This record gives sequence, structure tokens and C-alpha cells, in this order.
Amino acid sequence: MEVTLLANKGGVGKSTLSILLHEALKKAGKSVIIRDWDIQGTSNKALALILGKETNPAIHHDIIIYDTPPNLEHPATITAVKNADLAIVVVSPSPADIWEAEKTVQFVREQNKEAVIRLIFNKVRKGTLLGRLIDESAKQISAPTLKSMLSYRECYQHALGEGWKALDGAAREEVLELAISITTIKTQANNLIRY
Ligand SMILES: Nc1ncnc2c1ncn2[C@@H]1O[C@H](COP(=O)(O)OP(=O)(O)O)[C@@H](O)[C@H]1O
Ligand SMILES: [Mg+2]
Repeated sequence: MEVTLLANKGGVGKSTLSILLHEALKKAGKSVIIRDWDIQGTSNKALALILGKETNPAIHHDIIIYDTPPNLEHPATITAVKNADLAIVVVSPSPADIWEAEKTVQFVREQNKEAVIRLIFNKVRKGTLLGRLIDESAKQISAPTLKSMLSYRECYQHALGEGWKALDGAAREEVLELAISITTIKTQANNLIRY
């Protein structure tokens, strides 16, 4: 299955999510690889730190995660969207992000009619005003929102350098739940491969 993480802006957590999903899916026994197509190379650098070696793109992987540049016009973003079985639009709970999210959903629909589209909220602070914005804003967006979200946690910042071992129990649980929910989404690829 090819999973593309995208957003029309930087800082929402595409690279962090790429790394966290990579770690959690490995823990869940999947073979997974990140294709980092952002020239900033955040997830490639993080992977090099975590693994201490390069991954081998030549061998088969159950899941390919594309990390993309923070803009929809970039050729790398377009190609990653065209490849996607599942396109995940990453949003943080702020009005500006939510406005961009619908535009991003429309962009995916134009580029790839087959892709399943889901929204994921990252940096969620439960019990805050912005946290409460999520339910309301999710209704304004024409693609479903994943029930699993990622909270704002300091340990996620450390995950870029240290991977799984930077995460405390609650974070691990949250990321695993998200990873599993992603592998159970029905996409064309998931209909062919039995996980
Ligand atoms: N859930 C989170 N909790 C706390 N910090 C986060 C979270 N997600 C991302 N960050 C931080 O936000 C910043 C931007 O994240 P990054 O993954 O590089 O975004 P993008 O790839 O979309 O530009 C980084 O400093 C990262 O550590
Ligand atoms: Mg990035």
C-alpha cells in the first residue's frame, strides 16, 4: 500500500508522522519504507539517525510512506499523490490549517480519482478551545477525518532523532492505534494484499 502524507504548508507534522508511522508499523510487524520527497530531507535525516543506516529501496515493502514538500504545486507532491492508494491530509487544529485542508482534499481528487482520502489531526491539545474546534471543522471538509489523532507531545519532537524509544507509553499507544487504523482502511491495495 502506498500512503502519501501531504499538506499545503510546512510545520503541520508530515515528517514527524512519517517517522512515527514508520516506527509503529514496524512494531506491528509490517515492512515499511519512507520515500522522502521533500528537499529539506527531514525524514531521511531522522531515519539515518534512528536506524544508523540507509534503508534499501530495492526490496519489497508492504507499505510505502511518501513524505512530501509543503506545497501542492511541487512535482514531487503531484507524483506522490498520483501514486497514493491512501492520501492523508495532515492538519493541525488551527483555522488557517483547516482552510487549507479542503483545498488539499480537492487537489488529491483532481490528481487521483482512486485514492482514498483521510484527514488526520496532529498536535491536538485535548480540552482546549482549539481542540474543540476539531469536530466542527471536520464537518466542513469533504473527506472523512480519522478517529485516531495525535496529541501535542514533547516526546514526538524527540522521536525525529531517537525513534520509538523516545516515546512514553501513552504516546506509543496513540501512534500504534493510528498505524493500525491506517492499515485497516479499505483501499485498492488492501483489497489485493491481505494484512
Ligand atoms: N504531535 C506533535 N507534538 C509536538 N510537536 C510536534 C508534533 N508534530 C510535529 N511536531 C513538531 O512540529 C515541528 C514541525 O513538524 P514537521 O514534522 O517537521 O512538519 P512538516 O514536515 O509538516 O513541515 C517539528 O518541530 C516537530 O517536532
Ligand atoms: Mg517535512
